[in-house]
Amino acid sequence: MTMTIKKSGNFGPDLAFSINAKVKAARAKFGKENVINAVLGTLADDEGNIIALDSVYNRLETMDRGLIASYAPIEGEKAFRETVLKILFADNKPDAYIEVVSTPGGTGAIRNGIFSYADIGDPVICHDYFWQPYKKMCIEFDRDFRTYNYLTKDFKFDLEAYKACQDEALKDHDRLVSIINSPGNNPTGYSLSDEEWDEVLEISKKAANKGKKISLIIDVAYIEFAGDGEQKRFFKKFSNLPENLMVLVAFSMSKAYTAYGLRSGAVIGISSSKEVIEDFKNAMATSARVNWSNGVHAPQLILVDLAKDENKGEYDKELLSLKAMLKERADVFIREAEAHKVEMIPYFGGFFAFIPTTKAFDIVENLEKENIFTIPSAKGIRIALCATNKRDIVKLVERIAFYMNK
Ligand SMILES: Cc1ncc(COP(=O)(O)O)c(C=O)c1O
Repeated sequence: MTMTIKKSGNFGPDLAFSINAKVKAARAKFGKENVINAVLGTLADDEGNIIALDSVYNRLETMDRGLIASYAPIEGEKAFRETVLKILFADNKPDAYIEVVSTPGGTGAIRNGIFSYADIGDPVICHDYFWQPYKKMCIEFDRDFRTYNYLTKDFKFDLEAYKACQDEALKDHDRLVSIINSPGNNPTGYSLSDEEWDEVLEISKKAANKGKKISLIIDVAYIEFAGDGEQKRFFKKFSNLPENLMVLVAFSMSKAYTAYGLRSGAVIGISSSKEVIEDFKNAMATSARVNWSNGVHAPQLILVDLAKDENKGEYDKELLSLKAMLKERADVFIREAEAHKVEMIPYFGGFFAFIPTTKAFDIVENLEKENIFTIPSAKGIRIALCATNKRDIVKLVERIAFYMNK
């Protein structure tokens, strides 16, 4: 017997976290050096230890306890909100009304965006390679999660499929939320090009011009690992949009600050209308108050401190070394995949590489027997480059190639 209402317990364990439990068990039994862990989206050094940046954690360790213990304002510290905008947009701030409300990570931002911008039964559309919590949130809130084909055969964003999905969803609905996870998409690593963003906005504007309310939720959890600045250019395109075309950006401190467990992020609203943006701020703050109350104070203060001119260099240096580590691993992966003739989705950045295959679950089961852990899905195998060293990547690709050709 269960006492919960049906939908709340329906999902079963999270696949990534349950495979991670297998990794831990295998490490305990066979020794860490005999287990390849390419599962979770957390950065690990070459010995497999989670990386926790000195610039972040030295500040936490020396922070006044009273500050750590205290409540942050519901919408987040003012300086934090200003800093988020500075970091996120760099030189690409759109010409629009913009507000920021703190959230516990990108998850909270996406949760609040879906809840406030789609009503019960309204369509929430997303590419068909997606981070599973999007769908689970929609089920929990009775929003209608629908997917469209993400990538064309030559690995471009499938704009036709996007438009068809939007138009179909709007046939009998007046509003729609579209979640796009770019740049450095999880699980594929794909990033929409500037031209693809132009097209997405054209498609959205066409619907908005017919009076539909369109809200784009842009999940940028991996943005700092998907380019050297040029990946932020697309933000500028959110200038002067129709007032019934709203953009929400989900900002996360988890990946770029190795602050996964500190639970900090923000939802940024962008609109050409002052009224729409005031409404956004009120709705996000109210949702925060009734769900988690306020964001965690310490990471907000750390972000502000790290962005100061005198400290920026310290953080930037650490971020650069993380990016270099990821790039080296990705280069090895690409080289080995080519050598073994294993097709992969082109790597643009982010924490993951992705091998499309319809046999993912079988292959992953075989890999697990050799203590190699990855994440399978109906579309293929996700490999967490963030967690795996170069030597293990060589072996991992060789074993995947072996089972794919079997
Ligand atoms: C695509 C994507 N979006 C959002 C998140 C949310 O991260 P957090 O809530 O830790 O900021 C993650 C974390 O794994 C992710 O992979």
